Amino acid sequence: MKKFYITTPLYYVNAPPHIGHAYTTVAADVLNRFMKGQGVESHFLTGTDEHGAKVAAVAEAAGVSPQAWADDISSKFRQLWAHLDVRYDDFIRTTEPRHESCVQKVFARLLAGGDIYKGRYQGFYCVSCETYFTDTEAPEKAGERRCPNAECAKPLQLVEEESYFFKLSKYQRPLLDLYKSKPGFLSPAHRGNEIVRFVESGLQDISISRTKVKWGIPVPSDPQHTIYVWFDALTNYISGAGHGADPALFQGLWPADVHVVGKEIFRFHAVIWPAMLLALNVEPPAKVFAHGWWTVSGRKMSKSLGNFVDPYEVTREFGVDAFRYFLLREIPFGNDGDYSPESMRKRYNADLANDLGNLLSRVVQMVDKYLEGQLPRKPALAPGSQAAALATQAQAIGGCMKRLAFSEALGIIWAGVSRLNQHVNATAPWTLVKTDPAKTKEILFDLVSSLRIVAGWLEPFMPQTSAKIQAQLGVRLVPGETSAEKIQKGPPLFPRK
Ligand code: ME8
Repeated sequence: MKKFYITTPLYYVNAPPHIGHAYTTVAADVLNRFMKGQGVESHFLTGTDEHGAKVAAVAEAAGVSPQAWADDISSKFRQLWAHLDVRYDDFIRTTEPRHESCVQKVFARLLAGGDIYKGRYQGFYCVSCETYFTDTEAPEKAGERRCPNAECAKPLQLVEEESYFFKLSKYQRPLLDLYKSKPGFLSPAHRGNEIVRFVESGLQDISISRTKVKWGIPVPSDPQHTIYVWFDALTNYISGAGHGADPALFQGLWPADVHVVGKEIFRFHAVIWPAMLLALNVEPPAKVFAHGWWTVSGRKMSKSLGNFVDPYEVTREFGVDAFRYFLLREIPFGNDGDYSPESMRKRYNADLANDLGNLLSRVVQMVDKYLEGQLPRKPALAPGSQAAALATQAQAIGGCMKRLAFSEALGIIWAGVSRLNQHVNATAPWTLVKTDPAKTKEILFDLVSSLRIVAGWLEPFMPQTSAKIQAQLGVRLVPGETSAEKIQKGPPLFPRK
């Protein structure tokens, strides 16, 4: 049986991770946890992109070898993922032998098949973006050429050398056919249209080797050349799935179900990568999803502004789950968004402290006080109950998750939480208990059952919170089973900030 296979980009190791890296990785983790919770076998691969001129340059400036530098930063990514409760199934580094040998085999196969050829390259290279640009892409202005990527705009280097090329031009038609035959391959649709227009305008062969960059994987038949860092890194999605090394593993994973990436690298994933796979005669993934970009208090994150948001700083104040929640709730996945300490605090106080935290503590206290802590044995999905009404939303939430519409899924869950709070207010068990204890018990049991459902839905997004609610409400962490234990009062889930 093929597993559901989810990937993130492999992050560069030139600097430690920030909120942008956390965003993509938490999103992939949420999807992976959701799939597993549905009983689907799922596999989540992330990792680090460790070769190239930029990494070599920062290592040299720090006076250490590129490998030692990469070891250090790569471990910082893994530490952050552990801190953020990201549970990946595999972590791949492009300096690992399993990856390097796969890249070399892929290169050799495309060379033998004529999809890679040797020529001369003349062009402009952005070290920062590890990207080549042509005359027309980076026209001269005021006597210099700068990176056309507005986020970067650094001066380009003129490079002229012998180079291997990948015959991207040959794949214009097959790529357009692919976009037609796999609806949803280019996601979200509005970003997909840009890719189609780009491919329709014609594709040029791309240079995929350098003789001047030493920190890279050598071309097997011509070790003077190192393989272009993007050709190297993109291959991780199949090297990490055992391509050419472990056929059973590969069959069990490939094709990937979704590559989650940021919008700035959509082209690499939606044009170059599927063309490489077509050349290899390997089926392209089912979907490439390009999410939007976070700015910080209205400005892009940059070294010169020094405004990178450190995930540890946010979690120190608000906790890991609130950070995970904020990232996926604040903006629809696919759109751009803005982080600010104020917006984080607002979400925390409104959605987490007031709506969810309050609901749980009210219900727990009332069960403790009016029912002596007694809990319902089985989810009471009696017709007309709150829990039954809530449960009808499961399918809609599942649909959102499969579309990676995380914010929408959370919106549905929070609409449910609001209804439950309103129900508490409307039924006022604290008054009712004086006249009708039986009805009060029914209402409170219904609220407990409803909160158990909410806790289950929250697991992929906020694993610790979900576990805390389940512990308070006597749910064993075995799906479908509940215990008849008494309510366990706990400290507030989200103390107001
Ligand atoms: O591009 N907002 O690595 P990278 C949202 N190594 N997401 C952001 C972000 C922001 N402000 N900043 C970064 C590379 N990201 C290559 C990838 S894949 C074969 C090679 C996230 O370290 C987003 O996922 O620059 C983006 O695509 C990725 O980090 C870029 O990471």
